[in-house]
Amino acid sequence: MTDSTRRRPKPDVMAIGNRRLKPATLMMGHGYDPALSEGALKPPIFLTSTFVFENAAAGKRFFEGVTGKRPGGAEGLVYSRFNGPNQEILEDRLSVWEDAEDALAFSSGMSAIATVLMTFVQPGDVIVHSAPLYAATETFIGRILGKFGVTWLDFPAAATAGEIAAVVEAAKAKGRVALIYLESPANPTNVLVDVEAVRDVRDAAFGDEKPPIVIDNTFLGPLWHKPLAHGADIVVYSLTKYAGGHSDLVAGGALGRAAPINAIRSMRNTIGTILDPNSAWMLLRSLETLELRMSRAGENAEKVCGYLRSHPKVEKIVYLGFLEDARQADIYARHCTGAGSTFSLYLKGGEAEAFAFLDALKIAKLAVSLGGTETLASHPAAMTHLSVPDERKAALDIGDSMVRISIGVEDADDLIADFEQALAAV
Ligand SMILES: Cc1ncc(COP(=O)(O)O)c(C=O)c1O
Repeated sequence: MTDSTRRRPKPDVMAIGNRRLKPATLMMGHGYDPALSEGALKPPIFLTSTFVFENAAAGKRFFEGVTGKRPGGAEGLVYSRFNGPNQEILEDRLSVWEDAEDALAFSSGMSAIATVLMTFVQPGDVIVHSAPLYAATETFIGRILGKFGVTWLDFPAAATAGEIAAVVEAAKAKGRVALIYLESPANPTNVLVDVEAVRDVRDAAFGDEKPPIVIDNTFLGPLWHKPLAHGADIVVYSLTKYAGGHSDLVAGGALGRAAPINAIRSMRNTIGTILDPNSAWMLLRSLETLELRMSRAGENAEKVCGYLRSHPKVEKIVYLGFLEDARQADIYARHCTGAGSTFSLYLKGGEAEAFAFLDALKIAKLAVSLGGTETLASHPAAMTHLSVPDERKAALDIGDSMVRISIGVEDADDLIADFEQALAAV
């Protein structure tokens, strides 16, 4: 038996004739060869901190890959801070959803984002980003990278190509632009970023050394939004949300072309932000039902929002299925294949009305986070965005009457009955 037949899975079946298999099909077996694990249909959880080399030369070769002395990464498993079978299978399967060359799994969405940012920034650099971003991402860029002399300039998520270009030019005047960081739709405003316009602006503004475009695809990915196809270079995820999908794990991911992913892998190897094998295994199970769960949640959200939209106690709903702004609708048509299941509900009144509604819910749980099988509701102004200054909250329309809802996979009519009785209690 040669080294390669022992250590590598059999070639995967990715197509039948001319038919390329869909991600939903590949999630059941891609990247795993039962022959390598005593024939087990499902991969075992590899709880080991280190891997035995067949001989010293193999150990040397693997380390040459791990340390970047030789391109192409590690040929085999070395040490669990670098990689492991569960994580590698997960990474292969994550890549499938966005047709990415490679992917990495992280211990949380934030450790993925922090590792990606630290890979590309140097002291004195400027980060250009869309706004708003997930609060911890803003904190990491502003307060933590700021300690190392990194500065930032932002543009509103809805900005036009001209507005984005003006911010990029201002950033170039400040210093080296390390990367352009996007979040679409933005949390919690649900505003979409025109990724194609950002790519065109970036390509026109920079020569050979183009800063990578990184995008947080947590809210619509990987089913309804595939930004690598629209010009992004690296996609990051909180896999805690839709990908994990059961509100029982915390994980993150980064996907893209092999070269930037290799650079990010080196940083992950050094600082140890890799996902643990148990959570990786749980994510493999989650990905088998990802399309089913996200499709059902999306259909439920459409029904629930259709009901809530015309309710007399509702001021408005910010849901991607109801876009009125022509430019946002155009971005949606070019970039998205579904409206997701996370939206904002604005009640008539203020905090008292919003709290009465939240406290009366019987099926939906009062908790932050999103993308799980169960419906969650929260109050951004008093919870996730409590620390945001008042004027910024006002600019982002994070008012006291705003409730954030993530619809799950329950029966849609049961959910409507719950919202109906909770609105009656307001
Ligand atoms: C859009 C977005 N990005 C990143 C994160 C951070 O992910 P995690 O909590 O898995 O670290 C979150 C968490 O809510 C998020 O909503």
